[in-house]
Amino acid sequence: MRSHLLNDTTAEQYRRSVTEGVERVAAKLATTDRPFTGVTVDALAPRIEQIDLDRPLNDTTAVLDELEDVYLRDAIYFHHPRYLAHLNCPVVIPAILGEAILSAVNSSVDTWDQSAGGTLIERRLVDWTAGRIGLGPAADGVFTSGGTQSNLQALLLAREEAKSGDLAKLRVFASEVSHFSVKKSAKLLGLAPDAVISVPVDQNKRMQTVALARELERCHRDGLVPMAVVATAGTTDFGSIDPLPEIAELCARSGTWMHVDAAYGCGLLVSPARRHLLKGIERADSVTVDYHKSFFQPVSSSAVLVRDAATLRHATYHADYLNPRRMVQERIPNQVDKSLQTTRRFDALKLWVTLRTMGADGIGRLFDEVCDLAEEGWKLLAADPRFDVVVEPSISTLVFRYIPEAVTDPAEIDRANLYARKALFASGDAVVAGTKVGGRHYLKFTLLNPETTADDIAAVLDLIAGHAEQYLGDSLDRAS
Ligand SMILES: Cc1ncc(COP(=O)(O)O)c(C=O)c1O
Repeated sequence: MRSHLLNDTTAEQYRRSVTEGVERVAAKLATTDRPFTGVTVDALAPRIEQIDLDRPLNDTTAVLDELEDVYLRDAIYFHHPRYLAHLNCPVVIPAILGEAILSAVNSSVDTWDQSAGGTLIERRLVDWTAGRIGLGPAADGVFTSGGTQSNLQALLLAREEAKSGDLAKLRVFASEVSHFSVKKSAKLLGLAPDAVISVPVDQNKRMQTVALARELERCHRDGLVPMAVVATAGTTDFGSIDPLPEIAELCARSGTWMHVDAAYGCGLLVSPARRHLLKGIERADSVTVDYHKSFFQPVSSSAVLVRDAATLRHATYHADYLNPRRMVQERIPNQVDKSLQTTRRFDALKLWVTLRTMGADGIGRLFDEVCDLAEEGWKLLAADPRFDVVVEPSISTLVFRYIPEAVTDPAEIDRANLYARKALFASGDAVVAGTKVGGRHYLKFTLLNPETTADDIAAVLDLIAGHAEQYLGDSLDRAS
């Protein structure tokens, strides 16, 4: 069994084994003609259930054959141009190289003595990102597992900085289309059930700052404490960007922590054409960035950045065995002092290898391409009488719904759209997402693949229309 341990004596086996895995994936990618096979839970679950985990196969090739059956064949492939659903990007090869290296070396970036250069590389990337945002000389931050954790940590710091002894009085302001992790964080942080005030959005799905000003005033008047305003730079459903300069102004006036959730919109930080859309982000107290959304990085790769490094002390705890207090005086860099996690992956390496290979502009240009594509998709949808499209995209999301000529019942139109999404998924021809707008069911394309073309969009719209019509035809048959 020791032959499976990665060390000086097994380097050759490591090379062979990993190469075999890489070959499988490469072959799969070269032959995958749909983003999904359409496999059902009922068909797949028994194949996984029947595997006896107490009887190992003891052979890499056999394990990979089995994996083909239980995973690779039926996985959802984000690299496919007709995967248009959630905020999953295709990944760049330099990042995969970084991933392979980081898991083999297996540094843990909680302490210097478990990572050495890993800690310094992560720190450089935090500084680089903070510099791109424009947070100023006292900025700092740390890599996290994702936007949810980044938002949680930012709100933890905001809660502590609010310096209110009464948690029940704290209020967080976020637009009605902000990410649900804001509410989840409020709950985890022990805030009141009604602590998150939902601020209405305008017709472009951007936070209404007049309403925010009113809510902040009301909060003060009611003797409550505004803990944070969460501005979203790239909402999950619409890609809309809240008016950051105006929100910054209101936060400054009311002395409220400004958090910018740029989990999605962070790709604009490197965009040669669209960086201006993030104007005002430099005034934030904290920012969430998800490199695994718009920097073409594999899951997971995210960070929380703060304007004032000192605020990270709210996440600092010392343990004699790991990061004793004296290490701070000795200037030993232990990232665990800033993180909610202890053992932590060296995810930063993926971004490092990516930047050193393609450069920031290279990533930004890819992101610009998907934003350009969304503009084309918008024109297609706006000109197509079969569809109602919600807002012109600020980034790369399109929300729309099929509207049959002959049907006026909104509930029936809902059912036709829900059916179309399901049928498309079952066919595996394309994967699209869905959401609700004004209580009605809509479909959503999140465009993150520069390989997707306007023709792909047009073809998927035809498929959706076909499935919806099929449903409506069947429904008429059922009624007659
Ligand atoms: C705006 C926004 N914030 C936060 C998140 C949560 O990020 P993660 O899924 O990486 O936890 C998402 C995820 O889609 C998001 O769109």
